[in-house]
Amino acid sequence: MNPVIEAIKNRRSTRKYAPEMLSEEHLTAILDAGLWAPSAHNDQGWHLTVLRNKEMIEALNTDTKAALLSSPLDWARAMGQSPHFHVFYHAPVVIVVSGRNSALSPLADCCAAIQNMLVAAESLSIGSCWIGLCRNLFAKPDMLKKWAGLLKLPQGHTPQFCVTLGNKTGFPPKPPNRAENTVNYIN
Ligand SMILES: Cc1cc2nc3c(=O)[nH]c(=O)nc-3n(C[C@H](O)[C@H](O)[C@H](O)COP(=O)(O)O)c2cc1C
Repeated sequence: MNPVIEAIKNRRSTRKYAPEMLSEEHLTAILDAGLWAPSAHNDQGWHLTVLRNKEMIEALNTDTKAALLSSPLDWARAMGQSPHFHVFYHAPVVIVVSGRNSALSPLADCCAAIQNMLVAAESLSIGSCWIGLCRNLFAKPDMLKKWAGLLKLPQGHTPQFCVTLGNKTGFPPKPPNRAENTVNYIN
């Protein structure tokens, strides 16, 4: 199979990581793949903050779980309450993906960069997971201000999603079935 399509199909959300740090070479290659994503109006409206500091990742986990407690969704509140649940699955690297507010479509740009990074990670046999739960945290104005400062975000940027990265451990997750009837043709 074509290696790009193979990486796209083999990529799974990894939720169990080995504790060791990614090599600088792998991390740089993954970040670079993100920066080569398409973007609306070529605005490249993304900013990537690489967290490798364990204490900072733990603090982000703690604050995100606290934010989940006020979610209207039962399952999200349950995740916030669970002592075992870790929003970032103890991954050694968490990338916070922020959008530049002045870009035409910062959210779409960030999503394109994230997908590039996930596929690049798979191509290097590195595990990754797209983390949306952190949006509960960034939706809270006081937390947004606190974390924009801690992450040293450039002015005019808003955190959108996180991505976990690390070496895979354990069995790979079973691929979910594909939803049916999601393509139609007009010839
Ligand atoms: C926008 C978005 C947000 C997501 N947020 C989370 C998350 O917070 N935690 C998590 O474990 N997985 C998260 N995922 C991963 C999905 O759960 C996963 O992609 C889906 O279950 C399909 O599994 P696969 O990635 O292994 O194909 C997110 C995916 C997307 C696209």
